[in-house]
Amino acid sequence: MHPVSSLHERAVSSRVLIAAELQELLDPDPVPGYDVEWLPSDAPTPAGDYVAIVPLLTRWIGGTEQKNLPDLKIVANCAVGVDNVDLVAAEMRGVIVTNTPDVLTDATADLTWALILAVARRLKEGERLIAEGKWTGFHPALLLGLELRDKTLGIVGAGRIGQAVGRRAVGFGMRLLYTARGTKREFEDQTGARRVDLVRLLEASDVVTLHVPSTPETKGLMNRERFTVMKEGALFVNTARGDIVREPALLEALASGRLAGAGLDVFAEEPRVNPELVAHPRAVVLPHLGSATGHTRRAMAELAVKNVRAVLAEEPPLTPAYR
Ligand code: DGY
Repeated sequence: MHPVSSLHERAVSSRVLIAAELQELLDPDPVPGYDVEWLPSDAPTPAGDYVAIVPLLTRWIGGTEQKNLPDLKIVANCAVGVDNVDLVAAEMRGVIVTNTPDVLTDATADLTWALILAVARRLKEGERLIAEGKWTGFHPALLLGLELRDKTLGIVGAGRIGQAVGRRAVGFGMRLLYTARGTKREFEDQTGARRVDLVRLLEASDVVTLHVPSTPETKGLMNRERFTVMKEGALFVNTARGDIVREPALLEALASGRLAGAGLDVFAEEPRVNPELVAHPRAVVLPHLGSATGHTRRAMAELAVKNVRAVLAEEPPLTPAYR
């Protein structure tokens, strides 16, 4: 659809905002018939007659931003998480919000496993030993890690990504526990996973991995009390959102030895990472790389823009964040 105006109707704007960092992943004319303005992530969200915005997860699209964009029809978030968008404000203003599910499931599950293996087999300590010139040669008791076979993986939130992480665990010979709002029958049949409540999962798992979205209910979910019920010497991995974890409680759990290691791809105040976590020999920290493969990042950008094209053509969005 091309924006139309006539003497009898108010001119419909043809302006669309897309995160500038996505330009290299998209076709040169991603929304034909519309004028795309490429918005760098360090620039504030402008006010104006834009009809669509494709933000990165680092841009807050709150009530004020939406008020300043009175013609906005769609926020096409280039992420599966939508915690950077005020969904209540969007619903009240009739703005459609979409996300990018499915296309990033495998990449994020793979990276979760990269962290599980890195922490279980103490890769950070091994790399440091060599980098600091302290390795004196093979030793049968050097940096002994956790054997994953016959251990229990606890998946907090068995949505698409949590289930993909669980399916990979079968190849490592692990038992699976999970939490979810409802039973995931097909996932259970494929993997032998068992649904339990969060406390039971934390008590019984050798490795705990988080896959819930950041919502008012999950913020701070992993607090001191919850780390305390975890198995002595367990491993903890988070590729979901940083604010689901109270970082001081995580550091305490590492210091006390309750946790033998942590693999973290997300942090409460990105891009700031607590220096104690960076320095900790048993904490592997990554700069939010969950979906970072060329294939997946292109697919995410393309899906976000397809949602924009659909909504501007007055068709239903492909992947609405809520219905
Ligand atoms: C998302 O899409 O929410 C991820 O965190 C980005 O990789």
